[in-house]
Amino acid sequence: RYEIVQRETTAEILPGLRTRLWTYGGTFPGPTIESRRGRPVTVTHRNELPVPTVVHLHGGRTPAESDGYPTDLVTPAGWPTTAHGGDTGHGGHTGHGSGGPAGHGSGGAMHDPKAVTTALTREYTFPLDQRPTMLWYHDHRMDFTAPAIWRGLAGLHIVRDDAEEALGLPAGPRELPLMIADRAFAADGSLDYPSLDPTLRDRPGVREPYVAGVLGDVILVNGAPWPVHEVDAARHRLRLLNASNARHYELEAVTEDGRRLDLVQIGADQGLLAAPVKHGTLPVAPAERYDVVVDFAGVPVGGLVKLVNRLGSGRTRDVMAFRVVRKAADDSRVPSVLSTDLPTWRRSDAVRVRDFSFRAGRMGEDDGHGWLIGGQPFDPTRSDVTVRLGDVEIWRLVADVHHPVHLHLTGFRILSRGGDEPLPHDGGLKDTVSLRPGESAEIITRWEGYRGRYLFHCHNAEHEDMGMMANLQVT
Ligand code: C2O
Ligand code: CU
Ligand code: CU
Repeated sequence: RYEIVQRETTAEILPGLRTRLWTYGGTFPGPTIESRRGRPVTVTHRNELPVPTVVHLHGGRTPAESDGYPTDLVTPAGWPTTAHGGDTGHGGHTGHGSGGPAGHGSGGAMHDPKAVTTALTREYTFPLDQRPTMLWYHDHRMDFTAPAIWRGLAGLHIVRDDAEEALGLPAGPRELPLMIADRAFAADGSLDYPSLDPTLRDRPGVREPYVAGVLGDVILVNGAPWPVHEVDAARHRLRLLNASNARHYELEAVTEDGRRLDLVQIGADQGLLAAPVKHGTLPVAPAERYDVVVDFAGVPVGGLVKLVNRLGSGRTRDVMAFRVVRKAADDSRVPSVLSTDLPTWRRSDAVRVRDFSFRAGRMGEDDGHGWLIGGQPFDPTRSDVTVRLGDVEIWRLVADVHHPVHLHLTGFRILSRGGDEPLPHDGGLKDTVSLRPGESAEIITRWEGYRGRYLFHCHNAEHEDMGMMANLQVT
């Protein structure tokens, strides 16, 4: 049982400056919740922020009523409970920047009282009957997810079990959950999120940021800019999450003399791989998690290992660094068999193949329907896809530009990319697949867990807010 009060606070993120944040429980990231597989956890959220919120546990196999559907609001006291108020009142308390980039304005649900549920506190129940892995919880309000995450509404939730602990992987202080997220700051230290000021909308260039999504020039890890973490000269388990709204990373661990340390991948979004996979560099798209082991044993005491983003430039190339501070015994292991319970769905198991395109809409249009799935922007009152519990399906996804596509409720495996074999980092069970520009990919899954209304969407948070989301009804 947890109780989280969502509230505003200020923190020193950049030296000497105060940054106003929206937080889960007063910190950014929010409190890390640690759970055991199959042991249900209840989290009660109370909202003391100036706007409604929605909590979603990303990667959780959660009953629909606790999955954080984008119109199931936790409202602050005094917030109008009519649906219309929920859509229009956001500007008052917070000034610019609290709104989504486009508030994509499908006009349906947020104005349809039947579609919106509100509560002053909401109890979310997570059965966590699923493979152990690192999940994360974040805001998911319709049209306003991106600015809410940007302002701080994100936290980690780690699920463990005995089998994983018995493997002997690096643990304790040598297990490091790392939430990586870029942010931009104004000169006074406040977070800089481009607003949708209607008077600016028609000016050339103003909508430009939302094509790629919103990027920052400061890289935060667990809320701190470019941290340097002190480590033993031993194996460490880095549990990586890209919690950025839109930034992609291609990570690499390099020593001062330019030597690259292996990133030994042991897990994906939904838990351990069958066997470790060695990478020199590792692409990480928004919302993806990678569980990797890095061995600092060969680094001299005093040496620095930088975690670098090869896709960044200037200061956004740097992510964080590890300072090796002492020689130390290391009895950790990376066993050659990590897990034996990965689903083995084959093509022939699939009862259905579905196609979905992830493409830009007409960007110049006034309706702001920027990003579409299958030609349509999100509408919570529409039914998009209905699947049957227990069915195995193949989904073919095709993208125009980069789109990290995320499915709620279920994990999937990547069958192919561009008609070819998946990439080396595509193994294991995933809940987010990073579609590269112009690429198509096939994923396979079995609908498991619960019936009800779920979602799939692009996890570029700006694309999501601008309509790139669809309903998934499990019956
Ligand atoms: Cu990480 Cu639908 O969300
Ligand atoms: Cu999710
Ligand atoms: Cu996208």
